[in-house]
Amino acid sequence: MHHVSQCIATHYGQESVEDPLPDGGSGNISRVYVVLRPAVPADAAFLTEMLVEAAFWRADGPHRSVDDVSRQPELAHYVAGWPRPTDLGVVAEVGHPVGTAWLRLFTASDPGYGFVNVATPEVSMGVVREWRGRGIGARLLDALVTAAREADLTALSLSVEPDNYARRLYERVGFRQVGQVGGSLTMLLGL
Ligand SMILES: CC(C)(COP(=O)(O)OP(=O)(O)OC[C@H]1O[C@@H](n2cnc3c(N)ncnc32)[C@H](O)[C@@H]1OP(=O)(O)O)[C@@H](O)C(=O)NCCC(=O)NCCS
Repeated sequence: MHHVSQCIATHYGQESVEDPLPDGGSGNISRVYVVLRPAVPADAAFLTEMLVEAAFWRADGPHRSVDDVSRQPELAHYVAGWPRPTDLGVVAEVGHPVGTAWLRLFTASDPGYGFVNVATPEVSMGVVREWRGRGIGARLLDALVTAAREADLTALSLSVEPDNYARRLYERVGFRQVGQVGGSLTMLLGL
């Protein structure tokens, strides 16, 4: 675990949050720095874990393993072959990854759930359960939006179920509903 004094800042920035498991669970409150950095090829397995969290986010809903999800093409294509040349992602870590937000382009013949057009990548994100509610998701999304602007992208889309906590997060950065597919909202952010 990286504690305050051990951390190295990146241009993606760092900020401390309360450690959910301080001193191995002794109960003492301590804070750790969460460092944001670009996602790299070695993050593929972590992205897949977070994809499982995003696809099966309901506490009282069904749960699936990474292997199950990797066998479902409509989910697996969010991370398959990571990273493709046009993929972009951000990882939050405290010595190990605790969250990620990434984007990927899709085609009309193999669309994501939030597909709008071939020039608009779709955002996916997830934070490890015990690290949620500490602002990490909000920071990941901000960093991804900034990186997307720097990459000269003009819009981002996503698909979210109306009662997912993530919806508020998306609305706060400016995503707006542009459609509805099944029970899910398609949201768009102009950059
Ligand atoms: C959505 C997600 C990435 C947000 O990450 P996070 O680090 O918890 O985000 P933040 O701490 O920045 O909080 C985001 C908002 O969600 C709320 N929230 C997050 N988890 C919550 C929970 N379990 N219960 C109630 N509110 C919750 C926070 O209170 C905050 O809202 P507020 O600022 O209005 O108070 C995370 O909850 C997650 O991984 N969920 C499962 C995967 C998923 O659903 N991905 C999105 C699919 S579209």
